[in-house]
Amino acid sequence: MKLFTCLLPTVALGAYCNGSPQKNPKDNEMPILSDEPTFVKEVENGRLYNVNTGNNVVTIAHVFGTPMEMGKAHGELLKDTIVEFMTTLFEYLLNEITEEINNHIEPNLPPSFVEDIAEGGIEWAMDKTINITAPYTPDYFNQEIEGIARATGLSAHRLQQIHMFGEITKGACSMFGVWDEALASGKGLLQGRTLDWDMGGPFRDYPHITVYHPSEGWGNDFINLGWPGWIGSLTGMNDQLMGISEIGALWADHTFGHESRHGIPFTYLLRDILQWDKSLDDSKARVKGATRTCNLILGVGDGKINEFNSVRYSYSKADFFDDKTMEPGPWCIEETQPCDWHPHIQNAVYHGMDWNCPNYSRRLSERINEHWGNISPENAISDIIAHTCTGDVHNAVYDLTNNDFYFSVASPHVYSGVPRNAYENSYYKLDADKLFAEEKPNL
Ligand SMILES: *[C@@H]1O[C@H](CO)[C@@H](O)[C@H](O)[C@H]1NC(C)=O
Ligand SMILES: *[C@@H]1O[C@H](CO)[C@@H](O)[C@H](O)[C@H]1NC(C)=O
Repeated sequence: MKLFTCLLPTVALGAYCNGSPQKNPKDNEMPILSDEPTFVKEVENGRLYNVNTGNNVVTIAHVFGTPMEMGKAHGELLKDTIVEFMTTLFEYLLNEITEEINNHIEPNLPPSFVEDIAEGGIEWAMDKTINITAPYTPDYFNQEIEGIARATGLSAHRLQQIHMFGEITKGACSMFGVWDEALASGKGLLQGRTLDWDMGGPFRDYPHITVYHPSEGWGNDFINLGWPGWIGSLTGMNDQLMGISEIGALWADHTFGHESRHGIPFTYLLRDILQWDKSLDDSKARVKGATRTCNLILGVGDGKINEFNSVRYSYSKADFFDDKTMEPGPWCIEETQPCDWHPHIQNAVYHGMDWNCPNYSRRLSERINEHWGNISPENAISDIIAHTCTGDVHNAVYDLTNNDFYFSVASPHVYSGVPRNAYENSYYKLDADKLFAEEKPNL
């Protein structure tokens, strides 16, 4: 697995990513499911539902109130699941890190992190990450974690350690935004995010959605697709018709400048976009003003103005791209080679799997071009994503015009059949208007 992309020394400079999508991938012909979620239970500040995606069950927790109250509700609704997931994940992370250190799996860890582990052990190195990101971490994240800790009996410190893993284990992933004339509808914004991450660990066994309904003064309502007890964001949309995308840029280049461990964890910054931003301009100001950490490509869509931008993101860079300015290109790899594999497409911004990743980006460009003028959530799912073979752990397509949230998840380990990857599985369509309209329980 690709652990530690965030902490890697920049060995990848001047090179292309490995790997290619399959030569002749199949359409995803699985039905898009849309039954109403099944009610499970409710507590003072939360209500739990689930949906069956065919061969996995996804829990949906609505949480209401202040950060502490929302954390508590999350913990009360899913206590046993959270304990099980977090305990399994922590052990898994320790094993993976130990294995990487002992086997010197290429590319090696950067000296600073290895030195930390040598000095005090893995947990100590994790604690150091908590400490050096703490000055950039708003307190409401810790309050929410405290709420989960009180309700589940897990220690808040352990939950904080686990929330640092975003900084050390980014995925590959792909993204796109397509709008107006590119769409079958001729008007609107459709955004995609696919998460290619770790299929060995417990992630695929615990897919979960939290729908946040913060009380007055605590920001927007928003949907967060992730795991039980996990409060960072990788995938989600908010009630301002905005969505987020993210790709770990392992195959970055000199245009990214440099990385740092001192800044806001990126999963918290993405969550702040969902929770606080009302417009793409808000997100631009937020990202540019933040003390950032590692090399990423982010994406932010705003369905009120039908704009989607991707972002070259690192400690030293925060460059926003539209369809006219999208990079990499027209020249790549230290300006020595043409990026014919990442052509500009009108009303589309996209990145396949990584920054310098020719075969995935080319495929994605071909599939977008194939459907240009006729793109819909349905063919984005059945063809554009499926033919790019991207999104093993989970995927989402945000219809930021009709306010619909489409998602798919991997099959769990206990499911031995096919399909296995999220991009091959049934998607589920949730009406975000209905999700955001959920009322606080009257207990
Ligand atoms: C990308 O595709 C080309 C053409 O099919 C192939 O020759 C090349 O090996 C592929 N690159 C990688 C990294 O797989
Ligand atoms: C992190 O900060 C806490 C509280 O200040 C301190 O007790 C601990 O030793 C620090 N740990 C590391 C690894 O820096």
